[in-house]
Amino acid sequence: MTSSINQVYPVIWHNNSVSLIDQTRLPNEYTFVEIHRSEDMAQAIKTMIVRGAPAIGVAAAYGMYLGAREIETGDRHEFLQHLDKVAQLLRSTRPTAVNLFWAISRMLKAAYETLGTVEDIKQILLQTAQAINIEDLQTCHAIGDNGLAVLPTTPEKLTLLTHCNAGALATAGYGTALGVVRSAWREGRLERVFADETRPRLQGAKLTTWECVQEGIPVTLITDNMAAHCMKQGLIHVVVVGADRIAANGDAANKIGTYSLAIAAKAHNIPFFVAAPLSTVDFELTDGSKIPIEERDPTEIYQVGDTILTPGGVDFYNPAFDVTPAELITAIITENGAIAPGELVKSQPQHSKLLAE
Ligand code: MRU
Repeated sequence: MTSSINQVYPVIWHNNSVSLIDQTRLPNEYTFVEIHRSEDMAQAIKTMIVRGAPAIGVAAAYGMYLGAREIETGDRHEFLQHLDKVAQLLRSTRPTAVNLFWAISRMLKAAYETLGTVEDIKQILLQTAQAINIEDLQTCHAIGDNGLAVLPTTPEKLTLLTHCNAGALATAGYGTALGVVRSAWREGRLERVFADETRPRLQGAKLTTWECVQEGIPVTLITDNMAAHCMKQGLIHVVVVGADRIAANGDAANKIGTYSLAIAAKAHNIPFFVAAPLSTVDFELTDGSKIPIEERDPTEIYQVGDTILTPGGVDFYNPAFDVTPAELITAIITENGAIAPGELVKSQPQHSKLLAE
């Protein structure tokens, strides 16, 4: 087990390269992987060394800079052509989290809009990646604090159920759903977190519990199929989850299992919040049916360690995300406050228009 870590930053620009916390090794090992090249960043995103929508956006932004740094030409046009290929590679890593595409578009826009030498563009790209990193951290703090205003007022100390990991590890730091947890804990509003284990990759069991333990926040791990039972028993006061992509009508894609959690919350009259930055909203998509859902390797569901769980002759289906319809979401907690899903379009920030360009 690791000793207590004060601040968790999964993506750090350090010594001219990127240090990523290796999330595939937590909770048993707290180690970093050094990334020097864009191909290695693409691989790290694909293999989930770094994961979580905002965190892969930040990682991809640095990946763009690393790719730019590798381009040797001094010719601006040729440079931008190569940079487009780096963008293509990074975009091909994971399809669902829109922050990835948003961050890459913002990096490309910065490059195309910079007049001057190729070296000038490279400098701007590094600055833009660092800005995306810092802004996400600030955004998460705002989301956490905005969550306080909408949490149920009774009882004074709440039990909060979350799914997957929408914590510091999944963002630049602090977290979205776990940002709300951290702010509620700080204000004395939280009794305990219930963490779904989150099959098949176990982000809840391995990562969310780890973050809670680092902060001294009481946490109870349950398997995913226990959530409705816990709600019926009155153990859960509120549900807060993150999101990978939210459509303009408020339908929200998040880790597989979120949708059934929302249905169970509705059935038990428990508020169900999605905590996410506005960069997770894809204003180009009218509704959630158009959100691309990643399908991952079936070994994730039929193999645990070296043990194969099933007999031969079984077929598999392993969607990594599902879409919760807007009508099951009480509100979306953003850096600009909690917004009713139907009101999202009114808060479209200028930077979200990047995806359309
Ligand atoms: O497959 P993952 O681990 O990248 O999925 C992560 C999630 O589904 C998170 O809940 C989501 O990205 C929000 S992170 C703030």
